[in-house]
Amino acid sequence: MPSAQVFNNKDGALYTTSTGAPVARPYAAERIGKIGPLLLQDFHHIDLLAHFDRERIPERVVHAKGAGAHGVFEVTHDITDLTSAALFSSVGKKAPLTIRFSTVGGESGSADTARDPRGFAIKIKTEEGNLDWVFNNTPVFFIRDPAKFPHFIHTQKRDPQTHLKDADMFWDYLSQNPESIHQVMILFSDRGTPVGYHNMHGYSGHTLKFVNAEGKFHYVQVHVRKDGGFKTFDNETAGKLAGENPDFGIQALFEDIEAGKFPTWTVYVQTMTPEQAEKFRYNILDLTKVWPHSEFPLRPIGKITLNKAPDNYFAEIEQAAFSPSHLVPGIEPSADPVLQSRLFSYPDTHRHRLGVNYSQLPVNAPVAPVANFQRDGFMAFNNQGPRPNYQSSIAPLNYKAKPYENVEHEVFLGTAQADLSEITELDFEQPRALWQKVFSDTDREHFVHNVAVHLVNAKSAEVKARQLSVFAAVDQEIADRIAKAIGVPTVKPLQVKTASEAVRFKFRAV
Ligand code: HEM
Repeated sequence: MPSAQVFNNKDGALYTTSTGAPVARPYAAERIGKIGPLLLQDFHHIDLLAHFDRERIPERVVHAKGAGAHGVFEVTHDITDLTSAALFSSVGKKAPLTIRFSTVGGESGSADTARDPRGFAIKIKTEEGNLDWVFNNTPVFFIRDPAKFPHFIHTQKRDPQTHLKDADMFWDYLSQNPESIHQVMILFSDRGTPVGYHNMHGYSGHTLKFVNAEGKFHYVQVHVRKDGGFKTFDNETAGKLAGENPDFGIQALFEDIEAGKFPTWTVYVQTMTPEQAEKFRYNILDLTKVWPHSEFPLRPIGKITLNKAPDNYFAEIEQAAFSPSHLVPGIEPSADPVLQSRLFSYPDTHRHRLGVNYSQLPVNAPVAPVANFQRDGFMAFNNQGPRPNYQSSIAPLNYKAKPYENVEHEVFLGTAQADLSEITELDFEQPRALWQKVFSDTDREHFVHNVAVHLVNAKSAEVKARQLSVFAAVDQEIADRIAKAIGVPTVKPLQVKTASEAVRFKFRAV
């Protein structure tokens, strides 16, 4: 048996207390006599236990289970017509990045192969500050009204009484909020169980705005497509792996990168002018809709490579703090209400989860120098030295305005809120195309099976029937097949307003 020192000799470190004092015997405790009580003066022992007692920080309220790595973003195409962001000022430019992938609903120890959307959070450290793209692996989402988010998430997590996942509340929510159907169609296809974390695409889902140096803007959706395509498990393989190796995704990502098999993605944008957006069939602020590729083709802009596994998971991945509001000049949020709500929610939760100085943690610290009047607070280890903490006449900070700072972007007319809440036939068109045109026969078979094995667990006949009516509104065949599979009578489609009856949301570009 090697001595403790040789055994742990990777970096030749000498064992010390947290204040650096060498300690000869890690397991020793100072005590009175040979078997007497322990002494309060034993700093090493108290230091050891007190720190251990405080090891846990709050896990993310959603997306708690994840894996991540570092790499590089490279600009491959000129998009200076779209954005003035310095990152995109020339082809070939590179910036370091960190990506954290995640499942959404489970706790930090839950299975990587659970049926769930996957988070795809990217932090690009540009010369103008951090650009975070906090994406999912699906191009749409369950909601388009942000106030529904906590309700929705509660139904995907545990019942307050039984502390069990609950198929009744899961489907009760979804069937009452049929705008979720597009995402439900994707989630219950095999795309809901990707092969690990790095065999999938990522999507902004939301509409962003790219603004160029003249102050002209385009609406943009970002697509991060895995080179070689995405891979999925069927329901049974995913379920089996959840038991046999719940950390399958973390392991596969780490091992591939360590073996030099670096995953790569090609980054594209879809763009829309304000004039096109005015005429578009769907509301560009509606997170449950995609922009057809035939009308808005993918335009390549860059490449992502992950080439470095973390040296320390907690420091580099768990403490990573992503936010859709971490933006750079030339890339802006749209008025999508869910995105607007997220702009607030992420830094708010970071202050709770990591503390007010979360941006100073090495994984989050920008490569761009930070100079402002924020000072102090817990763990302020980059407190800007002697720099004045107010706008001083002796050492004032310089301000660099965005070239387009005073440009007005758009005028919104009508009642966006009402339009977003209302369910119309428009909500079923894209899910129907998915079922009828995109899915293969096998995809359709798997979809029916994947829904059936979940929905059958709902005890309420009313919930089952209501969700079947939502599926019937997509295509009667879906409801008929699922009803047969779970042994209940089929139902007629949910009745909804026509597109022309819907309150239309309009905006005018200026
Ligand atoms: C994580 C809120 C919708 C993608 C989180 C976290 C919160 C949150 C509080 C935990 C963050 C942390 O502790 O660091 C919300 C709210 C939403 C919403 C309020 C809607 C109103 C979305 C949507 C997407 C998304 C639409 C994707 C398009 C993610 C990702 C993470 C995350 C990828 C994990 C980030 C990481 O790896 O640290 N969300 N979310 N979320 N959310 Fe959302």
